Amino acid sequence: MIYRKGKNMSYRITILCDNSVGALSGTLGEHGFSALVERGDDALLFDTGQGDTLLHNALRMNRDLHKVGKVALSHGHHDHTGGLLPLLRNCGGKEIFAHPGIFSRRYRVKDNGESIPIGIPYDETYLRALGGRFNLSGEFREIMPGIFLTGEVPRRTTFEEGDTGLCCDDAGCAPDPLHDDQTLVLRTAHGLVLILGCCHAGLINTIEYARQMTGVDEIYAIIGGTHLGFCGAIQLDETVRALRTCAIKKISAGHCTGFAASARLFKEFPGHFQPAHVGYTLEIKA
Ligand SMILES: [Fe+2]
Ligand SMILES: [Fe+2]
Repeated sequence: MIYRKGKNMSYRITILCDNSVGALSGTLGEHGFSALVERGDDALLFDTGQGDTLLHNALRMNRDLHKVGKVALSHGHHDHTGGLLPLLRNCGGKEIFAHPGIFSRRYRVKDNGESIPIGIPYDETYLRALGGRFNLSGEFREIMPGIFLTGEVPRRTTFEEGDTGLCCDDAGCAPDPLHDDQTLVLRTAHGLVLILGCCHAGLINTIEYARQMTGVDEIYAIIGGTHLGFCGAIQLDETVRALRTCAIKKISAGHCTGFAASARLFKEFPGHFQPAHVGYTLEIKA
């Protein structure tokens, strides 16, 4: 597939931050996620990683983040928002699309009671001063022609219970519903491409909502974090069962999918699974 400007434009999707790296030497991994979506002269960044690898990996892969006009955030966890500071400081102001709950307090509460703050590590005022122009909404919306953000995803399945270690308080009394979790949806010539942050709303909930809101049934690819590595065995089993009915051509899972769930998806969907590590690139006709 040729990536070219003009009428028959293609998308080029490049993973800039992930837990693991591919064969390209000199790239770095971190627990986090970021993907660059380019189409003609337009560039949109979905998530920013934790902040230690975004600029380094973009430079190594010859991707110019100065030309990014818009940033979309999947949710307020630090491993998706930490790169905002180096991005704004080094590559100029950006319009930032996110859910209004993006600045909520967030904690990971471990079984031993230890709690770790995992929310966005910056103050909103500070980011605004650096040129971050926040555009907040919880609704499904088209942020560029053919490119959608789901907004809040309705939780309809019974088996997608999510990660019970995520809380709104450091005592671990209030489970975090992560209403701000959302997915980027690209309409392409081959069906939808879903770029997931952590997919805390549940992979099947997200797929069904994207289908409902776009009116497009075919899912060509899912790319990014599924959080299946942090969810229970029943959720993984039922997700695999539901995915079998979806006929997805590319299941490109990474980040919080983890080794065990990735291995399961690799085994269950032969020929369709590939790890979505740093350097993964997908080119597809728009
Ligand atoms: Fe994450
Ligand atoms: Fe997350």
